[in-house]
Amino acid sequence: MGRLASGKQILLIVAGGIAAYKTLDLARRLKERGYRVRAILTEAGSRFVTPLSLAALTGEKVHQDLFSLTDEVEMGHIRLAREADLILVAPATADLMARMSSGMANDLATAVLLATRAPVLLAPSMNTAMWEHPATQANLALLQKRGCQIVGPQAGDLACGEVGAGRLAEVPDLIAAIEAHFAPGPLKGLRALVTSGPTHEPIDPVRFISNRSSGKQGHAIAAALAKAGARVTLISGPVALPDPEGVETVHVETALDMLAACKQALPADIAVCAAAVADWKLKSPASQKMKKVKGAPPPALSLSPNPDILATLSDLGKKRPRLIVGFAAETEKVSAYAQAKLKAKGCDWILANDVSEGSGVFGGDHNKIHLITAKGIEDWPQMSKQQVAETLVQRFVEALSSKSKVKAR
Ligand code: CTP
Repeated sequence: MGRLASGKQILLIVAGGIAAYKTLDLARRLKERGYRVRAILTEAGSRFVTPLSLAALTGEKVHQDLFSLTDEVEMGHIRLAREADLILVAPATADLMARMSSGMANDLATAVLLATRAPVLLAPSMNTAMWEHPATQANLALLQKRGCQIVGPQAGDLACGEVGAGRLAEVPDLIAAIEAHFAPGPLKGLRALVTSGPTHEPIDPVRFISNRSSGKQGHAIAAALAKAGARVTLISGPVALPDPEGVETVHVETALDMLAACKQALPADIAVCAAAVADWKLKSPASQKMKKVKGAPPPALSLSPNPDILATLSDLGKKRPRLIVGFAAETEKVSAYAQAKLKAKGCDWILANDVSEGSGVFGGDHNKIHLITAKGIEDWPQMSKQQVAETLVQRFVEALSSKSKVKAR
């Protein structure tokens, strides 16, 4: 991956957030990969990391002041803006995004962001309430409309003690987004989301309902999309697989979490729902471990349906990905059932596979696919799951580069 980086210059803008410390590790790892990293540290950013540590890790002078005479003579903020191949703002705070969206240039960071023609990647990080505030969301939408790319934020424990969306994307995810940006490949510039693996629906804190999905096919598709240059978010249920390289991976447990993570990963051009989402969840999972009571009958599990993620994504109106692919696991009448599923779910393509006993598909390394589209059925020979992923990505390339770019069906 480091080969891609040679000669590429990243301008890292570090604003004032508690996550600023992560940019030190990021700068070091980007340098290891062969990027040249220059840094701008905002006034607030310098409360969290020192210019000295950033300078040591980037091996470059750190720029801080719009009106520094020496800086303007040696470098000039316009040159800083012009020479970057990519500007990464991490952490992108609510305040910095607000100033960016209104076109302000009242410090070096915003002046450079206003003066640049380079692509801008924002890595937001802030308290959940600030992130969810309509003002922040409106600023974000405007910045996205103007072409800024976004990575994260992720959900989790925040430094402020709250739990929710607002954590700066992890360093490997920031690197994945940067590498996807520079990657050559037929799907460069496109965003994809892939669901993979099973979901766990809790019965109590130690028991759950699940299925035998290994996640191998979904993970292989995410990796193949990234290899073709797409920027990929993989939303994975619990699996025993490593996160694919070059892919932003979000780990979830339940179907509801998976749906929320999918919505968070939008907008996307391509969506592949390869996860074996549990169809039902417990109406009310027990908060404590359920105990056996001698002589009592086993507990009756009262179930309610989970949301259908594939159908939900297919029915998003304006936010709908251009090309949505689902899977159909069938044990008989494979094509007929899959065709009905295509209609019922409103997706564009279905990859139907025979999972009857003895087929070895669940957990195995091979798959035999029938690709169902509005045009008809294509029977693929038995292939490895990696070959299935590569063949599918080839079909994406054909569909999205054909004349009917908007309607890939
Ligand atoms: N799917 C989903 N959300 C669900 C259920 C399924 O996104 N709650 C997606 C799967 O990822 C897959 C497709 O829908 O792409 C499979 O649909 P499903 O109706 O679950 O098919 P089967 O597992 O084949 O189930 P069944 O035959 O029981 O209808």
